[in-house]
Amino acid sequence: MTQDPTKFGCLYGIGVGPGDPELITLKALKALQTAPVICVPQAANRRDSYALTIVKDYVKPEQEILRAPFPTDDAEGAAQVWREASKMVAEKLEKGQDVAFLTEGDPMLFSTFSYVLAGLQELCPEAPVIIIPGVSSVMAAAASSGVPLVTHGQRLAILPAAYGLDDLSEATSNFDTVVLMKVSPNIVKTLADLEGLGLTGQSTYVRRASTDREKVIRDITKITDEDMDYFSLLIVKGNPKDHTK
Ligand SMILES: C[S@@+](CC[C@H](N)C(=O)[O-])C[C@H]1O[C@@H](n2cnc3c(N)ncnc32)[C@H](O)[C@@H]1O
Repeated sequence: MTQDPTKFGCLYGIGVGPGDPELITLKALKALQTAPVICVPQAANRRDSYALTIVKDYVKPEQEILRAPFPTDDAEGAAQVWREASKMVAEKLEKGQDVAFLTEGDPMLFSTFSYVLAGLQELCPEAPVIIIPGVSSVMAAAASSGVPLVTHGQRLAILPAAYGLDDLSEATSNFDTVVLMKVSPNIVKTLADLEGLGLTGQSTYVRRASTDREKVIRDITKITDEDMDYFSLLIVKGNPKDHTK
């Protein structure tokens, strides 16, 4: 027998923004404060959930916090971990409780929410889902650095930093702006050394945009080990052929 869909709780996929608690939308704040259960991604190698830290002052004491452990890479076993997290959420929805799943930035861009959403669509396809967009770190970094991402007719690419330099070279020949997420010390060092790519003077590094630990570095050869942080990205201006012709 199938369960009455009106009995399921609703899953809210909530983007809490890039770090400044004031950058959450009114809609997200309302959903966050009315859900009895808040689910947060908890990286295995971190003490707390970054998304939860951002909104900690908005959470009420009576709200239950569900921590969904997640792997920091695509290590073996990751799929199982995601299934477990989706199961935790599904159990709450089946009891009729709404769940607010928090993600930093936007929930549909390089976000843990995508895995939970896919898992839930398998486990509990009748449960309603509402996704509330958030201010992505890409937009926050552009604002912090004053570097416009693209203007009329230009092309923008957003890449995870897990690619080779050949890919980057191809991206900068095809796009006016390339945003590199999940920047690693290696990629910064390689970029800084690679005059051949002709990009050293065209890259801006933004760490922890919108927070009190924000730092904008316009000369990437000056980035030190202390400047490196998981919550950082590079905005690289490309040299594309004129694609309007
Ligand atoms: C798993 S992705 C999450 C992206 C997020 N969903 C978004 O919309 O911004 C994590 C990456 O986002 C970037 N990031 C997140 N917050 C940031 C911030 N405040 N400043 C700069 N980069 C940030 C970093 O590149 C980090 O490695």
